[in-house]
Amino acid sequence: MNELSAKHIVLGLTGGVACFKAAELCRALVKEGATVQVVMTAASQQFITPVTMQALSGRAVYDSQWDARESNNMAHINLSREADAILIAPCSADFIAKLLHGRADDLLSLMCLARPLDKVPLLLAPAMNREMWAHPATQRNVAQLRADGATVLDVASGEQACGETGDGRMLEADELLQELIAFFSPKSLAGQHVLVTAGPTYEAIDPVRGVTNLSSGKMGFAIARAACEAGATVDLVAGPVALATPRGVTRHDVRSACDMLDATLALAPSATLFIATAAVADWRPAASAEHKIKKDGSGQPPELRFVENPDILATVAALPRAQSGELFCVGFAAESQDLLANAQAKRERKKVPLLVGNIGPATFGQDDNALLLVDAQGAKELARASKRALARQLIADIARRLGN
Ligand code: C5P
Repeated sequence: MNELSAKHIVLGLTGGVACFKAAELCRALVKEGATVQVVMTAASQQFITPVTMQALSGRAVYDSQWDARESNNMAHINLSREADAILIAPCSADFIAKLLHGRADDLLSLMCLARPLDKVPLLLAPAMNREMWAHPATQRNVAQLRADGATVLDVASGEQACGETGDGRMLEADELLQELIAFFSPKSLAGQHVLVTAGPTYEAIDPVRGVTNLSSGKMGFAIARAACEAGATVDLVAGPVALATPRGVTRHDVRSACDMLDATLALAPSATLFIATAAVADWRPAASAEHKIKKDGSGQPPELRFVENPDILATVAALPRAQSGELFCVGFAAESQDLLANAQAKRERKKVPLLVGNIGPATFGQDDNALLLVDAQGAKELARASKRALARQLIADIARRLGN
């Protein structure tokens, strides 16, 4: 998906080792369809050359307010008027201090000062040593820049170029890309608290074996990401899957259906929207053996007895908050045939206002899917697309239902 198509990003680089990540970021922005104009300070050119940034952006880099290429000789005006956003990555402690004071003695700071405040957002990706980041001067400056309307992104924690360990690392290129995509997303779920279940559950037979299913968790993770991008607070209760946690989402890992129910019920009191995408095992072994079940030489397999698992969605949908409409519940149905009839029947059985049907074998593990949204009024199809695109459409649809 070209998630940044038609977006023009001015990518500013200031002095810091993290400049090496700006090369990757530039490439990622272009790959997502953005046009990228790089502007570099003199200090940043100690770390990476304009040649590299020009090659990756496909545009000559600007680094001087006296650039004669601009016929009016006003690069700071022209560049800032064209931008959909200015992203400074890396943004040094010195540059943060400079922005705070409205200094304008080089092209990048001049351009930031000259940008139309109401039209061109400014995003900063700080990068510095942990002591510099923690210093009251930097923290004071960051707070003031936020108050002045800039979006100061988080820093990462970990090993730093100087050999110390702590807060102040610049986010990775992929994380910055996610932040930018989220920044441009309509905040249709602002103020909502979304709870999502995703993935399979694992029901232990003994300490080394269990019953599970082929759910990959991709649809639920995509929905959690889309909800977060739409401005919601998001809790994701995930069965055993190896997927990366979407940025900004709080993940709660669980294994069995009973664990998933406990985690979900603990989080439900603060949720306003519950989306149950998890493929919860219908049954679990009546007892899980303490030790590995061994072959006894008789040729007889062990007899396993199963008991039914709790229905998480139906349990949540029966809570007074769900009944009163304070908590909007959305179920999923993975069917192998008769999608519409099965989804309608399931919606009524689970007593949820919206049920999303999909064909199980055609979606498990896949990157794309097709959805059928079934409510009391009827059904609506979301045509085959990537799970990412469908998640965004579904979130937009639910936001309309919530009146956001
Ligand atoms: O009954 P079925 O498993 O087809 O229902 C699917 C929907 O119910 C999904 O939203 C799924 O997450 C939810 N579910 C649940 N707990 C179960 C079984 C299903 O929350 N034990």
